[in-house]
Amino acid sequence: MANVVVIGTQWGDEGKGKVVDLLSAHANRIVRFQGGNNAGHTLVINGERFVFHLIPSGILYPDTRCLIGNGVVVDPEVLLEEIKGLLDRGIAISPKKLGLSERAHLIMPYHKAIDIARESAKGRSKIGTTGRGIGPCYEDKVARVGIRAIDLTELDVLKEKIRANLREKNFYLTNLFGCEPLEYKSLLDRYLSLSHELSPFIVDVSAELHEAMGRNESILFEGAQGTHLDIDHGTYPFVTSSNPVAANACIGAGIGPKTLDSIVGIVKAYTTRVGSGPFVSELIDETGNYLQEIGQEFGATTGRRRRCGWLDLVVVRYSARVNGMNHLAITKLDVLTGLDPIDLCIAYECQGKRLENVPAKLSALYNCSPVYEEMEGWKEDISGARAFEELPKNAQAYVRRIEEVVGVPVSIISVGSGRKETIFCKNPFDE
Ligand code: IMP
Repeated sequence: MANVVVIGTQWGDEGKGKVVDLLSAHANRIVRFQGGNNAGHTLVINGERFVFHLIPSGILYPDTRCLIGNGVVVDPEVLLEEIKGLLDRGIAISPKKLGLSERAHLIMPYHKAIDIARESAKGRSKIGTTGRGIGPCYEDKVARVGIRAIDLTELDVLKEKIRANLREKNFYLTNLFGCEPLEYKSLLDRYLSLSHELSPFIVDVSAELHEAMGRNESILFEGAQGTHLDIDHGTYPFVTSSNPVAANACIGAGIGPKTLDSIVGIVKAYTTRVGSGPFVSELIDETGNYLQEIGQEFGATTGRRRRCGWLDLVVVRYSARVNGMNHLAITKLDVLTGLDPIDLCIAYECQGKRLENVPAKLSALYNCSPVYEEMEGWKEDISGARAFEELPKNAQAYVRRIEEVVGVPVSIISVGSGRKETIFCKNPFDE
């Protein structure tokens, strides 16, 4: 029995969905602890593609219970759409299967309107947000004016909070951005109807996890985005508004730090980034286009093309430190097949100085160039490999070098999108 956290070590889109889905086979409960529907976790099960934005990726296991923690910001419309989408595909989601924390904050239509208006006003300095209202919702949480899931069960409170928020948000939207104001009555009616549909799912996630741990159940905590999008530890201000790092599993789910056993960092075999911000190993050339095309690097949420580059181990080593990782899971190794040589970024060079770490100063980071180590590529199809020894020697050397530079052992290697296309060296639940 163990509690395992899965987090992204890069800028999100590392392939966490597939790893969470696989590890879910060993867990009784799966918990999302931060972010919102800015995330898009893709799974391919028996050739069928599923994309989840809010519901934890373990939902497809019949006996696993999925929870959305207090640290997540929830767009109720999106959550219901996702529940209905699964129902349409023959997967019934009941309150027995899915719980939503009473303390989770709700994304309201004015959050989306502000997110979009602000981004378009920023012009060239835009962050490239997903436009889902994530930042404005977290702002309201910290400003202590947010609307929480529990408010859906207390209609007088809900009405008053919507009224007070609209007064302020409409002033901001109309006067600063020249947008149309949002109408109280229609917004309230919509949320009253949503409250009816969502109330049965609302639970005390922290208390439930405490009881589950008392019964020695195994729990999997599913991070969204990645460490370098973290509001504190990422490439600020080109980050999201939550903490995707492992420690936030505790705050965003309501459990104590001593309950965590394993931290699994997901590393895509190369690097991608969506939206603006520094990206030292970015390839704006044929190889970058190749990775984008072969890796099908389009955002699962916004459909945007992801920027691509060689694997940046400065970024991953930094993530190993701030997350306290003890397992690595390498994904999409198969995408590198056929590339020769393959470059690995092991340090940065900035104004003649070698840097082993990601500088906090954005201007310095923009001036960094990658220090590459050249690795030999492989041509063999690796999608059939099921043991480390079945990988071509050069692919083995690539994986071993990642372990060495990052200082964390590789436990899982993904060699294709399906569940079976995976090499398990060590199960993080066997701690
Ligand atoms: P926001 O989270 O929508 O506010 O967007 C802030 C930044 O994080 C933008 O650069 C987004 O592209 C990026 N971002 C947010 N969620 C994800 C994700 O799940 N994968 C990759 N990038 C993301």
